[in-house]
Order: sequence, then C-alpha cells, then structure tokens
Amino acid sequence: MSHHERIAHSMELPPATAQPNVYPLSWRSQTAKLEEVWDASQREYWDPKKLPWDTFDAARYSWEEREAMAYWWTLLSVFDASAPPVFAAAFIKTYEAHEEDAVRRCFFSVTRDEQNHEQLCGLAITKLLEHPDPLTYEPKTEIGRKAWKNAHWLYHNGGRYWSGYKNAVPKYSLAVLFSSFLMGEIAAATIFHQMAAKCSEPVFQEGFRKVGRDEGRHMAICMALMERDYPKMDLSDKALITKQIRAGFLFLSGVLFEPPEDFWDIGPDFIPNQREIEAVARNAGFYIPEYEAKKENWRNAMLNLKGVLDKYGIPFPAIPEVGISGQEVRDVDMKDIIPVF
Ligand SMILES: [Fe+2]
Ligand SMILES: [Fe+2]
Repeated sequence: MSHHERIAHSMELPPATAQPNVYPLSWRSQTAKLEEVWDASQREYWDPKKLPWDTFDAARYSWEEREAMAYWWTLLSVFDASAPPVFAAAFIKTYEAHEEDAVRRCFFSVTRDEQNHEQLCGLAITKLLEHPDPLTYEPKTEIGRKAWKNAHWLYHNGGRYWSGYKNAVPKYSLAVLFSSFLMGEIAAATIFHQMAAKCSEPVFQEGFRKVGRDEGRHMAICMALMERDYPKMDLSDKALITKQIRAGFLFLSGVLFEPPEDFWDIGPDFIPNQREIEAVARNAGFYIPEYEAKKENWRNAMLNLKGVLDKYGIPFPAIPEVGISGQEVRDVDMKDIIPVF
C-alpha cells in the first residue's frame, strides 16, 4: 500500500500495522525485578561534573605521571566511549521488539549511565593532559609518546569493533545480546570495584565507586532478562552465545587483562609500553592491578559468568588464557563481537 493511498474513508478501522514497528503503544509489565532496578537508577543518578573536582590538582603530579594516568583513562574510553551508542542501538531494539515497559526504561537508564561514564573519562583526560583529546595531544615526555602511540592503536581497534557491532545488532535476538552485555557488565563491575578500592585520589575513587554501582545495576538487568527468557531459549541461540563469550573474552581482555595479539591488531611494542606506562601510574598512587592480579580477577569474572550460563545449559567456551577449560571456539573475528562495557 502506498503512503498516499487514503483508506480512512473506506474502512471503519485501519489494517494491522506491519511489525516489527518501532513503537509499541503499550506499557506491559511483567518482570518486577526490572521495576526495582529502574527505581534504583532514578535514585542513584549522579552528575560527573559534581564529583569533588575541587580536591583534584593535576599539578601535584609530574607530566610523566599525568600522561600515564591519562593513558589508562584513554584505554577505558576505548570501551566506554562506544557504550552510549551501543546501548542506544539496543534501546531502539527493545522498542522494535515491543519489550515490556520496564525493559525499555532499563535500557534507557543504561544508555544514560554510559553517557555519564564517558563524560567521566573525558573530564579526567582533559584535566590530566590539559587537552580534550588523547590522539591530537602533543606528548611532553617519552612515556607520553609511548602512551600516544598506543592510544592510536587502541582507537584503531575500537573503530573496527563498532563496525562489527552495527552489523551484529540487527542479526541477533535480544536473548543473545543479553549474555554479551552481561559479560561486559561483569567485566566493568570487576574493574571499577578494584580501582575504587585502591585508588588514592579522592575524586577518582568517588567516580569509580559510582560507576561500579551503575555497572552492578546493569548486571542485574541482564540477569533478570536471562532468568525470564533463557529457560525457553532456542538451541541454536545457545551455540551462538558460546561463541560470543569467547569473542567477548578476547575483546574485553584489552582492558581487563592484556590485548591478545591474535585478535587485537597491535605491534610488538604495545604490551611492553603499556606495562611501563601502567607502572608509572601505579607509582603515582593510581592503582592498576599487576599482571597476575588482572589475570586472577578476569578468571573470577569468567567463572561468575560460567556459573550463570551453566544454569541454562549453555556450554562455556575454553579460555586457556586464564585456565578455564570448556568448548573449543575457533575463528573468532571482529564481525562476531557484541560485548560492551
Ligand atoms: Fe560503563
Ligand atoms: Fe555498563
């Protein structure tokens, strides 16, 4: 039927609107847990600008230390600065799928939270570097130059992820997306709680604490949806999830552990440079876990996720990097990546 064909004069009621259609015009309520999470997101909303920035004086640190700390925030931004559009796309999908009202609101809250996390990264980087962009920044020290080079490679790889994500979202059901999201949220909650616990700078500590709390809510949203949908899930979706978890491990290792070279397109100096930069930040009181601690944390996060997926009979992939055995998954590439922070 063409747009211009007028039908209202010849019919009592219009024909059914073709689906999927972006607007539900319905406020169905089914999952009580999600209503609680939404209420918490309203109560716990915070403004990155209102953190105690007046207690922070970047000039107390040397330029090496400032560039090293800014590097860590840049690394985080590679994941967090893509999160608002990533969740905005998922938010639209909840409307197309005519999800229950509270699911739509919860995804709205995640999009809004992730925007806050991105703002926090931007504020920290801008204050540390006195420049709003780690890519066009002119390094002042040798450490800064290494950080600048690594930042370019991180950005390059992050850009490939976004192209993959845009292709993946329309292809997968929300059920498959949830497990990938859960993986990102577990990873995020892990890292922010660690950072908050040991960071010496009050404004960063407070920021990490608030971001960690947000990530905990995001986890709860994914878990509630999995509990609702996974008992009736298709077998073919289960196989897809196993593959997604392996892909997610490789992608998120970039921030939680160290970027695996078979997946991240980085040169031989990337990891040695990153270790050196992190040591400078650590000495300045900006806590970043050391190699073994990162590995242990990441392993525990994966075991948590495995515990959730086991309940629904979804095979867990082998993750030999952190000593977890499971189903062998090969040929993971950027096209397969959904996980987000
Ligand atoms: Fe986040
Ligand atoms: Fe999140």
